[in-house]
Amino acid sequence: MASLRIHICFLLYFAIFLSLSSCYSLPENHVALFIFGDSLFDAGNNNYINTTVNYQANFWPYGETFFKYPTGRFSDGRLLPDFIAEYAGLPLIPPYLQPGNNNFVDGVNFASAGAGALVETYQGFVINLNTQVSYFKDVEKLLRQELGDAEAKRLLGRALYIISIGSNDYGVRITQNSSVLQSYSKEEYVAMVIGNLTVAIKEIHMKGGRKFGFLGLGPLGCTPGMKVLVSGSTGSCVDKATTLAHLHNKALSIALQKLENRLEGFKFANHDLYTSVSERMNNPSKYGFKVGNMACCGSGPYRGQSSCGGKRQIKEYQLCEKASEYLFFDSGHPTERANRQIAELIWRGTPNMTRPYNLKALFNL
Ligand SMILES: *[C@@H]1O[C@H](CO)[C@@H](O)[C@H](O)[C@H]1NC(C)=O
Ligand SMILES: *[C@@H]1O[C@H](CO)[C@@H](O)[C@H](O)[C@H]1NC(C)=O
Ligand SMILES: *[C@@H]1O[C@H](CO)[C@@H](O)[C@H](O)[C@H]1NC(C)=O
Ligand SMILES: *[C@@H]1O[C@H](CO)[C@@H](O)[C@H](O)[C@H]1NC(C)=O
Repeated sequence: MASLRIHICFLLYFAIFLSLSSCYSLPENHVALFIFGDSLFDAGNNNYINTTVNYQANFWPYGETFFKYPTGRFSDGRLLPDFIAEYAGLPLIPPYLQPGNNNFVDGVNFASAGAGALVETYQGFVINLNTQVSYFKDVEKLLRQELGDAEAKRLLGRALYIISIGSNDYGVRITQNSSVLQSYSKEEYVAMVIGNLTVAIKEIHMKGGRKFGFLGLGPLGCTPGMKVLVSGSTGSCVDKATTLAHLHNKALSIALQKLENRLEGFKFANHDLYTSVSERMNNPSKYGFKVGNMACCGSGPYRGQSSCGGKRQIKEYQLCEKASEYLFFDSGHPTERANRQIAELIWRGTPNMTRPYNLKALFNL
């Protein structure tokens, strides 16, 4: 009896599902946004995994300016993908793991703070890039069931895919000393990171993705966090990290050019985050900031200790009065104001900042 009832329920559910999906049709020029990567993009996926507060930002004062409550974003307000969604005429794109989130027609956010392209990077505490891509494949299947093969293919081919990855792979190499990965040379290590990113791109392309946006690495060696963690109170930039960031950015643009020649229809926008962030660190007032080298929230020199919110190892922290006067909100993450400026450069920046296309050009294709 019980099994019969389940059966009937299933049929009813299925009938409703079919009738809904058959009358559902997307606007001709609908552009979805699929988001992959690390804390620069994570809108709250890490709220729903078994991790530690080191990889979470779901407590005050994160979120204080825009949302007025902590969402899991590592900033006082919105992140780069939130602004990109706005420019694309989309609502905020929710985290994939947010319960009840099962409409993927506008895209979805797979990013996870702490994630890297290498499986070993903060393994067990984050959703690595490979796993993010496997979630995307699940979403692709659901979209095909819901919309049919032709409509799903169209949606995936028109969609934007934005990826921020690598900072954590290098951060781990510089600040931790136990991993087997330490035995690789700098060049070999960069090749592994780029190699894994290339695999991810090819898999998304195989499922129909065509228009990609990438963030190069920022000035990793000069963030308040890296300076304090490695140089202590002298606060000088960390050359090892700077070198890795340059090597990565060079290897990334070479890899993307190769992919453009090899993958049918593949087009990309690659933002030079190293330049956009360095410019603002070195000339804060030119961009409307008062402080470029020190975090708004944290403790120690440059407030570079990752103690914002007082929930991690160190319980004491300072919080600035106006986050919008700062480039960095915490030891390694931009304020909402900085994110808005950088998002503008990704969306409509000239080729010296975002090349060969900007994201708006890809959106309009
Ligand atoms: C979560 O992680 C902790 C520490 O790594 C572990 O002890 C615990 O069993 C995990 N919980 C679940 C539900 O996996
Ligand atoms: C990526 O790199 C790791 C090493 O960290 C490796 O084990 C893994 O198989 C690679 N490939 C993908 C697709 O992640
Ligand atoms: C890592 O360990 C090696 C030897 O065990 C040591 O020489 C090196 O300075 C350490 N590096 C860091 C970043 O702690
Ligand atoms: C990039 O080019 C624009 C316009 O051509 C210019 O205003 C801007 O200063 C340049 N930025 C950098 C960092 O060179």
